[in-house]
This record gives sequence, structure tokens and C-alpha cells, in this order.
Amino acid sequence: MKILGIETSCDETAMSVIEVSGKDKIKVLSNVVSSQVKLHAKYGGVVPSLAAREHVKNISHVFKLALNPVRSREGSQHASASNGIKETMKNIDLISVTRGPGLGPALLIGLTFAKTISWLHKKSLIGVSHLEGHIYSNWLSEKNMKDIFPALNLIVSGGHTELVLMKDHGRFKIIGETMDDAVGEAFDKVARLLGLGYPGGPAVSKIAKKRNPDKYPLPRPMINSKNYDFSYSGLKTAVLYLIRDLNLKKIDEQTKADIASSFQRSAVDVLVQKTMRAAKEFEVKSVLLSGGVSANKMLRSELQKNTTEAGIEYFQPPMKYTTDNAVMIAIAGYFNHKQKTELSSVVMDANLSL
Ligand code: KG4
Ligand code: ZN
Repeated sequence: MKILGIETSCDETAMSVIEVSGKDKIKVLSNVVSSQVKLHAKYGGVVPSLAAREHVKNISHVFKLALNPVRSREGSQHASASNGIKETMKNIDLISVTRGPGLGPALLIGLTFAKTISWLHKKSLIGVSHLEGHIYSNWLSEKNMKDIFPALNLIVSGGHTELVLMKDHGRFKIIGETMDDAVGEAFDKVARLLGLGYPGGPAVSKIAKKRNPDKYPLPRPMINSKNYDFSYSGLKTAVLYLIRDLNLKKIDEQTKADIASSFQRSAVDVLVQKTMRAAKEFEVKSVLLSGGVSANKMLRSELQKNTTEAGIEYFQPPMKYTTDNAVMIAIAGYFNHKQKTELSSVVMDANLSL
């Protein structure tokens, strides 16, 4: 079956068509992502009203681009544009759209668009969780996903830091989450303190490479707490005080890189230690990493190493599917559709929980 995925929960207008055949074999036919990063960079973070305005501007074009490869495959490329879309939409079996969590005004654009084309082309529509989408980005790794349950998900993004037990498709239990800032948010804020721009994660991890992570010992908040919750706001404040106490007129590049490296070490240590403790306590068969921060190379290699040592299967999404995209939303739609006889709600919920 062919599924059209639609994602507009934050600052990416994304659409994708996937084809699922046989035993859940996923083929990505298109993956279009229109990023608004440059627009929001000057504000140091995403501005919801601007994000919504950009989604409105871009969504039709992204839709056409996402359908194009499907259209050529179906041999209707010579049809007029509107006929082409009509013909191509005939080959789509399901539309899957992010209904939350995320920025309300941004989510509404994707949902309204999805509802309109679902009505116009008489296609089934399903609303899915953005976080479930991130989890399903793991199904794009080349590894065999059979026999992975119970699984433990570590979801790390700009808005979320969650440990989620997954007993089966659609069966989730949150066992830990952040009490304040998400880990991606902490990366973004530390980047701003170091004058590295937005988004901060890639910039911090780039300069942290090969620098000394032990130069400035930073706290590892809640690393020994009995629960599986996280807290990243204190770590960010510790970086702020460190910079203040260094009392330098201008932070040189080496010092910046050492601070970035020490921060990354602390942030990753907490994530890995808590994930491994939960994986052992709940006796999971596998650990799945996802969300924008899953692009972090240190986090990827540390989890790989620790799970291998513990004899637990480890999955991570391919790099290009770590940040927001609509392929993951299409896959989440597929598994939701397969599990449920009744299609789930397509009502927007900016605080939707798993
Ligand atoms: O999942 P995502 O694309 O959007 C949300 O759903 O929030 O995640 C974006 C977050 C940002 O905070 C960004 O700084 C972070 O992921 N990020 C990284 C890296 N690449 C992106 N954080 C650490 N290291 C990276 N390499
Ligand atoms: Zn995301």
C-alpha cells in the first residue's frame, strides 16, 4: 500500500510517499522537507506564527514535489498538473498526518491540508503522534526489526526527552521524561551562550569533536536519581556560570570547544546511564534511539557500545531521518492503520502524549 505522510509540527514543512509491501517492507518513494531554519535563526528559536505562515506558503509546492516521483512511476507525467495530481492521488491508499505534539498554529496547517485532500480525493486519513513518528524512523534502518519487543525508546528532540517502553505496536508507557528543558533545547541554549547560532545541536557537537570533555567538570543532573526522569535546565545554567566565572573578555575558539565538549559529555552521560539502567530493569530486548538529538555522534556510539556490552539489540535511525521528516509520519500511519480497525482521531492536540 502507498501512504502519504504530512508533517508540520514545528519548522519543517515535510511530505513523503512510502510504499509498504510484503512483511512490512518499506520503500521511500519521496521525501520532501522544506526547512525554515534560516528564517527562525535570527530570532534564536522557532516563532510559532511565522512557522505557520511559512507552512501556508510552502505546503502546496511540497505536496506537488512529494507526489511527483509517484506520478512518473504511474506513467501519468504527461497529464496536466491538476489532472496529474488527481491521477496520482488515486494510487495513494492512506494519508497520515501529525496531529501533535507541537506548535498549535503550525500543526493546524498540516491537519487542514490533510483533511482537505482526504475529502477531495476520498482517501482515508489518520492522525498520528509526532513522537510515534520519531520512534518509527528506526524502521528505516537496514536492520531486521522482527522480535524487538519489549523495546525501550529514548526519544530526544528539541521539545522532548523521554524514555518510553514499547510492548508492541501502539502499546506505549512513558517511564521517564524531562522535568524542565529538553536535551535538544539545552544544546540550543548552550550554543546561544557560546555564540554558535541556531539550531545549536549540530554546531555544539561539531566544535566539541576531538576537544577535552574533562576540561570543565559539569554536573550530570539526576544521573543517580531512582526514577527515570531528566533535568537539563541546571546543566545549561552551569554552563552560563562557567562562562561568567572564566571572566574572559572574549571566549577564544579553543575554550568554546572545550566547554561544548564538556557539556556534550555530561548531557550524553546522563542519557546513556539512565537508558541502560532502565533497559536492564525492564529486561527489554532492544533499545531504540530517535529524535533530532539522535543525530549526535557521541550519543549514537555510546549507546551502541553500552547495548552491545549488555547483549541488548540496538537500533538508530539513518542520519537523514533523525530530524523532522514525513517518512516517519507515513510509517507511523501504516502501523496505526494495521493495528486498529477504527481510524484514530484527526483532531489537533498540541500537547499530545504517547
Ligand atoms: O526532532 P527535531 O528535528 O525537532 C523536534 O521535534 O524538536 O529535533 C531538533 C533538535 C534541536 O534541538 C537540535 O539542536 C537537535 O535536535 N540536534 C542535535 C544534533 N542535531 C540536531 N543535538 C545534538 N547533536 C546533534 N548532532
Ligand atoms: Zn521532532
